[in-house]
Amino acid sequence: MKILMLAAEVVPFAKTGGLADVAAALTRYLAASGHDVKLLMPFYGRVQRGQGSFRPHAKLSGMRLGFGGRDYSYSMVTAKLPNSTADVLFVHCPELFGREAIYTWDKDEHVRFGLFSRSALELCQWLQWAPDVLHCNDWHTSLAPLYLKAAYAWDKLFARTKTVLTIHNIGYQGVFPSDSLHELGFGAHAHLLHQGDLSAGKLNYLKTGVIYADALTTVSETYAREIQTQDFGMGLQDLLRARADSIVGIVNGVDYAEWDPASDTRIPQRYSAKDLGGKRICRDQLLERMKLVPARNAAVFGIVSRLTAQKGFELLPEVLPGLLKHDVRLCVLGSGEERYEQYFHRLHGAHPGKVSFWAGYDDELAHWIEAGADFFLMPSLYEPCGLNQMYSLRYGTAPIVRRTGGLADTVEPFDRATKKGTGFLFDEFSARALEGALARGLETFRDPDAWRALQQNGMAKDFSWERQGKNYVELYGRLSAR
Ligand code: ADP
Ligand code: GLC
Repeated sequence: MKILMLAAEVVPFAKTGGLADVAAALTRYLAASGHDVKLLMPFYGRVQRGQGSFRPHAKLSGMRLGFGGRDYSYSMVTAKLPNSTADVLFVHCPELFGREAIYTWDKDEHVRFGLFSRSALELCQWLQWAPDVLHCNDWHTSLAPLYLKAAYAWDKLFARTKTVLTIHNIGYQGVFPSDSLHELGFGAHAHLLHQGDLSAGKLNYLKTGVIYADALTTVSETYAREIQTQDFGMGLQDLLRARADSIVGIVNGVDYAEWDPASDTRIPQRYSAKDLGGKRICRDQLLERMKLVPARNAAVFGIVSRLTAQKGFELLPEVLPGLLKHDVRLCVLGSGEERYEQYFHRLHGAHPGKVSFWAGYDDELAHWIEAGADFFLMPSLYEPCGLNQMYSLRYGTAPIVRRTGGLADTVEPFDRATKKGTGFLFDEFSARALEGALARGLETFRDPDAWRALQQNGMAKDFSWERQGKNYVELYGRLSAR
């Protein structure tokens, strides 16, 4: 099949979260399975300055796109996706993407991602390449299905093209004032946009995709059900319920070429389920690197996260003081909302040898924490899939998670009697419930046999793309057969 994958972030070129990992790894899987797949992303300033050998595309330079009464110049730049035969094509439009950030609060943000979505269809036309599937990801690419149905429907090239929209996070919908509509090139097709929203003065990108994509997917089965409810749908639940037959939940895969302690070149010492000796070295070096007091028997907790309300950090101020009375260490790596950064800075100030907070983004340190921690803390309020809990399992690090979204689908509660299970879960979004899970975790940690069983169970789990990716191929096949 011919597949055009659209994503606003792709590892290793630009990343703020799991979308970047998934876009790269799914593309890699599709290419390795013999599909003709291209991955399209914007050529941000940070990509240009980053690593990668970029080449101007021989055929696609000096192009112009008339869009919303304006004329944009752009070209395509290409690079190979590392460890893959797939090509990444970068939309090089300096006026819109020549800025450092992936996402901005600039007043043309809607134009940036509108043009990005539109350029996908232009690209196919320039190359006379007819995709079977246009696979969109999140709000940044959600106008593409409507552009296809409206402005490009005349072109036979797209006669067989089906659109898939994967919702990685319904918390970000791309909502802009409706008076920006004229800048998006819908022209005579503007009536196809959600009229209720337009009358209310809004234009919602993700909603547009939810209405017009041929198939909708989200990144776990539980989240697929959750987003159809009032509590999780963030306003889109009714539309999603109306499209229930077109929604599939597919749990994300893990790229074990990147995230496996047996082959991880970033961590201080490699180890495997057969010999966990290296994990102790990783743990000691992690404590040293994060300037924490060394400790033979302390339980080491790790957090690697975007610092947003989604991740459930609200619960921590009530819970951590109690936890910190025990012999524990806490290593936090994250960046995001100021209030959480301040909270972790204060916590470090109050418990200098026990708590360490590194504000920022650091890929290597993320690997060190996965390898060196005993527990990985992810008390998310909601979690479409979550990757870190799956990485943790492979590193023999016990996830403590709330039973929501992908966390519910990938972590199984550990039972000390049967020695089955891989982590510690709690249900209610409350400090008490989290405390319960922490207490169960610490008890198990002090029981070496049980702990060993828990680690082995987690390390044996297989969330590889070889397993999960098939579900996308099946979906593409079903769509194409229609
Ligand atoms: P989300 O996409 O909601 O942020 P995921 O668990 O799916 O959550 O993916 C997060 C990804 O981003 C993981 O690969 C994680 O290691 C990485 N990550 C998040 N914050 C940081 C950070 N501060 N430094 C390094 N990596 C981070
Ligand atoms: C989102 C979600 C996260 C998911 C990731 C990749 O950012 O918050 O749960 O794992 O996308 O799909």
